[in-house]
Amino acid sequence: MADIDFGDFDAVLKDLEESRHAPGFIYCDPQVFKREKERIFMKDWLYVGREEEVSDPGDFMTLRLVGEPVVLVRDREGTLRAFINMCLHRGVEVAEEACGNARAFRCPYHGWTYDLSGKLTGAQSMKDLPGFDMPNQSLRPVKLETWHGNIFICFDADPPPFKAFIQDLEENFSFLRMDKCRMGFKLKIPFECNWKFAFENLMDFYHVPVLHVKSFGSRVRWGNDGVELNKLGGCTINYTTSPSTPGGQPLLGKMPWLEHEDVTLGRAGYLQPSLSMFARIDYAGPMVIWPIDETHCEVWIYRLFPEEVFQRPDIEEKLKVYHDFQITVLEEDRTMIESMQRAMKSRSYVPGRMAPLEKTVHHYLNSYIRRVFGPEEES
Ligand code: FES
Ligand SMILES: [Fe+2]
Repeated sequence: MADIDFGDFDAVLKDLEESRHAPGFIYCDPQVFKREKERIFMKDWLYVGREEEVSDPGDFMTLRLVGEPVVLVRDREGTLRAFINMCLHRGVEVAEEACGNARAFRCPYHGWTYDLSGKLTGAQSMKDLPGFDMPNQSLRPVKLETWHGNIFICFDADPPPFKAFIQDLEENFSFLRMDKCRMGFKLKIPFECNWKFAFENLMDFYHVPVLHVKSFGSRVRWGNDGVELNKLGGCTINYTTSPSTPGGQPLLGKMPWLEHEDVTLGRAGYLQPSLSMFARIDYAGPMVIWPIDETHCEVWIYRLFPEEVFQRPDIEEKLKVYHDFQITVLEEDRTMIESMQRAMKSRSYVPGRMAPLEKTVHHYLNSYIRRVFGPEEES
């Protein structure tokens, strides 16, 4: 990456009407991926799940995010906390399971023990060691905030103000009342592509009437006039669509607080680094893309429905329909995204002109390029 200069991005940074897509190396170069991690993922607020996943004292959930092990835990007093899941001795993950309920975390290697507030409470044969100040040692805390039942963390000890970060979602998505919703399902789906391709694909509506013609493409109506660009490369798109089911019907009814809204309600929001939020008449749908390495990522999909629908006797059967339809749509996307990824390593690839209907992707890439390749202070 040493010989990259900012001029490599001139064609992307032009006005949309004259711009081109980004050079292939940003989607496959390990050095670019390293820089993204430092400049973006270690600095931004990141969506990591739902409060209901760790609802009771002792509940915990482990995650590996961009190579960093994290444990989310609800302590005895009910406070939700996040820590780097790494023993202070030699770095072993102290919480081993994907999720569970614990009274404490005991490192499986040499048995150092931590309470649910992260404090080191036991370390065999270490007590009398000069300078080993056990009471003042603790798992490294990670900043954590919640918003309408959703959990965000930030690895930076001095994170950007959460209120400013969440403002666009608060304005555009609080009407979904996600704190009154529960997860119908959560999916983690691996893709053989750079994380940006998956994220760009979610904000690219240009492909919808073509690629998704058999699933839902004909039900979506949108245009650039429904796009509101916001800070840090994000945006909100207002459009008309239908619930994400094969027949376009809300199989679990409208959300009770959206009874007055039309069934065609559609809104999508995007926040850096990789969070999308989808609003429909019948559900809220956060989606987040996690990079694994420069050519692999995982798409995490949450589908949230009002608490009351979970009383229905047919709930499992209906959720399965939503679940299967989501997989169908995503598999349509996969074929294209993974094909694009293969092109990035070809010597024949030349980035093509952007279409006017790729306004959202253009806005996102412009912001991304300034953050990752611009002067350090802009990051
Ligand atoms: S690595 Fe955890 S106790 Fe040794
Ligand atoms: Fe798509």
